Amino acid sequence: MCGIVGYIGKKKACPILLAGLNRLEYRGYDSAGISTVEKNGLSLIKDKGRVNHLASITGIDELEGTIGIAHTRWATHGKPSKENAHPHQNKTKTFSVVHNGIIENYHELRTLLEENGYSFVSQTDTEVIPNLIDYYYHKDPKQDELKFLRAVRNSCLDLKGSFAIEVISSDYPDNMIVVRKDSPLVIGSTEEENYISSDIPAILSYTRNFYLLEDFEFAVLSRTSAKFYTSDLVEINKKTQTIEWNATAAEKDGFEDFMLKEIYEQPNAVRETIGSRISLTGNCELSELHFSKLDLEKIQKIYIVACGTAMHAGIAGKNAIEKLCHITAEVDIASEFRYRDPLLDENTLCVFISQSGETADTIAALKLAKSKGAKTIAISNVIGSSITREADYSIYTHAGPEIAVASTKAYTSQVVLITILAIYFAEILGRCESSLLSELKSDLLALPKKIEETLKQNETIQEFARKIYQEKDVFFLGRGIDESVAKEGSLKLKEISYIHSESYAAGELKHGPIALIENGITVIGIMTDPRLVEKTISNIQEVVTRGAKTFIVTNQKINSNQFDRVIFIPDTNAFISPILSIIPLQLLSYYISKEKGLDVDKPRNLAKSVTVE
Ligand code: M6R
Repeated sequence: MCGIVGYIGKKKACPILLAGLNRLEYRGYDSAGISTVEKNGLSLIKDKGRVNHLASITGIDELEGTIGIAHTRWATHGKPSKENAHPHQNKTKTFSVVHNGIIENYHELRTLLEENGYSFVSQTDTEVIPNLIDYYYHKDPKQDELKFLRAVRNSCLDLKGSFAIEVISSDYPDNMIVVRKDSPLVIGSTEEENYISSDIPAILSYTRNFYLLEDFEFAVLSRTSAKFYTSDLVEINKKTQTIEWNATAAEKDGFEDFMLKEIYEQPNAVRETIGSRISLTGNCELSELHFSKLDLEKIQKIYIVACGTAMHAGIAGKNAIEKLCHITAEVDIASEFRYRDPLLDENTLCVFISQSGETADTIAALKLAKSKGAKTIAISNVIGSSITREADYSIYTHAGPEIAVASTKAYTSQVVLITILAIYFAEILGRCESSLLSELKSDLLALPKKIEETLKQNETIQEFARKIYQEKDVFFLGRGIDESVAKEGSLKLKEISYIHSESYAAGELKHGPIALIENGITVIGIMTDPRLVEKTISNIQEVVTRGAKTFIVTNQKINSNQFDRVIFIPDTNAFISPILSIIPLQLLSYYISKEKGLDVDKPRNLAKSVTVE
């Protein structure tokens, strides 16, 4: 959802900016643009359409500047068009600005600026920013070295909403100013250059040393330095953090698509997420957390809050928390939680899950929980992301960068980490038999091999995909923990194949949805819970009788003749079965999307990171 790139160094900025935009394409966008500091002032080239189109616009090859900003826009205010694309400039074209986020009070600011003689060429909220900067710049009588920064700072103080902003100026050809509030932005630094981006993978090939900005911290960048200021313009000392991901982790590395690569990375993502947190000899280690037995005994309720796939991981993990810790756990959609006035107090623990750590609704839900005194834990894949900075405690999945919009390895790693969290709490609380915990630990450790085994079923899955890729509706059914996998399988399918799909608790079939089952329709059943397998089989029989094509994922010994295709997966502990049973469904969605000739990694209308409401 909107992408920002910036460069200030000794090389030509344009190729670096275009490469960065290409790497951010997965975030979703409809227009792109670039502005560089040239000898004769600021360049500005932008249009609706893809980055490839931007790169082909006449004049772009002639840009020589070594400082520049670039942007991919995902339209919010005003349709995708050249005028609405970023960067935006003030009337006299002395400032260029790119912006991610939403300026909620832009209308009021625009009116104020118009009253002061400013005019606008776009319908965007962003265009107020370069004009505000111009306004404050000219109003400021002082002529010192902080004048540019003061103008940006004063403008930002007027903005309500969320923003990550880069500003360059023709009057300051050796500087760039960046600032963020509730919107992601990182600065990658080397001795001779600074790279700016909405996320780490886009600039990982240049450096692994990153500055992470807090809300309302301003960075004044030159080629060889980065100075940081608070909103009171007090200079602060900031250290870089080294990011362990390597550059090939953000490349396709021989795979046709990022999604396929990420599906195949799951054994390792799970292995890394388990790391040394689990061993068969000692207690589970989550050194980032500091909970005493007394702290945990006070917790009366646990909320798991997230969006989309991360929320499905929460549903899959809730069982382990309830059963092992004997604490009621509830899963909430972040966009609902934040507005439904949930009952929260200091005896509530809220766990927020977000791969990116930048999802606007999840961040807002976290802020709400904190304001009501609840204890908060963030589970994220991105070091230093917003939710990890906001929460009382943060624990990380170590899945490596996830580029495809459709989340795969983040999901399985999240389920692993919530399970580890449940074990960690359970060991402190001592409410659960230790043999149960030991068994679960050894099953967790065995998972990477079992994922590898499951992935070997790819050809059978691809063959079934060829059979059903032209379907219009698909149903996913499961009971208990398998229902959570049905939800995730259904989301995956609709996201990347655009096939309408529904997921149901299998027992609900007779209460309505069976009316939709007709000859030839596809029904996908997940059956991993031995207690419930017979019941789910009966439900699936009912759809077989009505002519449905069936695709079953199971770890149970069932008679496969009764269904069109059965994928047998390795058996494992019931708490973590989703980590294996989701894999055939990820592959099925992937192959269906490929059969349909769709862009698997960048599905229509979707953004990887939903940083606005
Ligand atoms: O970065 P997050 O985990 O907070 O993202 C949450 C959802 O937007 C995300 O899981 C989305 O549903 C995926 N595209 C699903 O594949």
